[in-house]
Amino acid sequence: MGKLNVPLPGRAYEIQIEHGILKQAGDLCRKVLPKARKLALVTDHHVEPLYGNMVRQSLKKAGFSVHTTIIPAGEASKSMTQLEHLYEEFMAFELTRTDAVVALGGGVVGDLAGFAAATILRGVDLIQIPTTLLAQVDSSVGGKVAVDLPAGKNLVGAFWQPKLVLMDPACLNTLSDAVFYDGMAEVLKYGCIKDSDFFRLLMDCGGRQGVMKRIEEVLYTCCSMKAEVVRMDERDTGLRMLLNFGHTLGHAYEQAYHYETYTHGQAVAAGMVAAAELGERLSITPAGTSERIRAAVRCYELPERIDCPMEAYQNTIGLDKKGAGLEINMILLEQLGRAKIVKLEKQRLFALLGEIYGS
Ligand code: GLY
Repeated sequence: MGKLNVPLPGRAYEIQIEHGILKQAGDLCRKVLPKARKLALVTDHHVEPLYGNMVRQSLKKAGFSVHTTIIPAGEASKSMTQLEHLYEEFMAFELTRTDAVVALGGGVVGDLAGFAAATILRGVDLIQIPTTLLAQVDSSVGGKVAVDLPAGKNLVGAFWQPKLVLMDPACLNTLSDAVFYDGMAEVLKYGCIKDSDFFRLLMDCGGRQGVMKRIEEVLYTCCSMKAEVVRMDERDTGLRMLLNFGHTLGHAYEQAYHYETYTHGQAVAAGMVAAAELGERLSITPAGTSERIRAAVRCYELPERIDCPMEAYQNTIGLDKKGAGLEINMILLEQLGRAKIVKLEKQRLFALLGEIYGS
């Protein structure tokens, strides 16, 4: 069992990692929500039949009145339409400012329900109960919540820290291999940017079974790295950008294939390999690093390369939220386990990508 603190001034909260913790959700929520009477539980069609009843019963036993909204599973639900639907459900339930929203599910549920919590009644408390690996190691921690617009992903959002994050490693047993490995890209990312020993441990694990044998340690390590980064740069103006390693090129891959062919994790995996290659060409990253990341990515059934036309890079990076103007902040590795932000002229970046991928 692991307990971690995200020590933000005035908004500190705990992340609790424990087998079977969903059954204790009610008592644990009660501790951080002493005045709440109502909880708006948001989940999706995949998660509801697996864990909905267990969580609801626990919350009701702790004296909460619970209303459940079940959204369709999938990225399409991170929409203004679903957001409005949640607002309507919360209002029909007569949620008040002392009540709270509980997000039970993966990243889509957490981001959508989190943004609804951040904005309804000018903001109500939020509890995150992430059930996928990606949500447990990344999206449920750190307060980024958002919905998508037709113009791009996560374009309407907020920083809205939860009051509590509860994660049960046993939830990961019900994930398909594809969804599990999708999350492994973010897990590998932590090793790449902050901890080469952790990277080696993941290589030693050798696959899903090996990771599951050490899952509490893996979740704890990822969440403690994320908590530390968020503590130092909650608003993503500096250090937090390191968490975007592999993401700038990853977004180009996702967008080039209309978010249909590759999952986020698959795109990030190929993006990390490409970013390591870029770093090597710029003599920032030691030679051989991209090969080590390639091996790790293969080990977790993630793609080591995604081909994409130069216009796709130009379209995404030209509009990328992280890089205004002629330059872009790229996250590159000084060595495996240590990342830094490098300002790069976009034209130079496109030329290097052309050299690497021959287009
Ligand atoms: N997923 C990146 C961040 O939370 O900043």
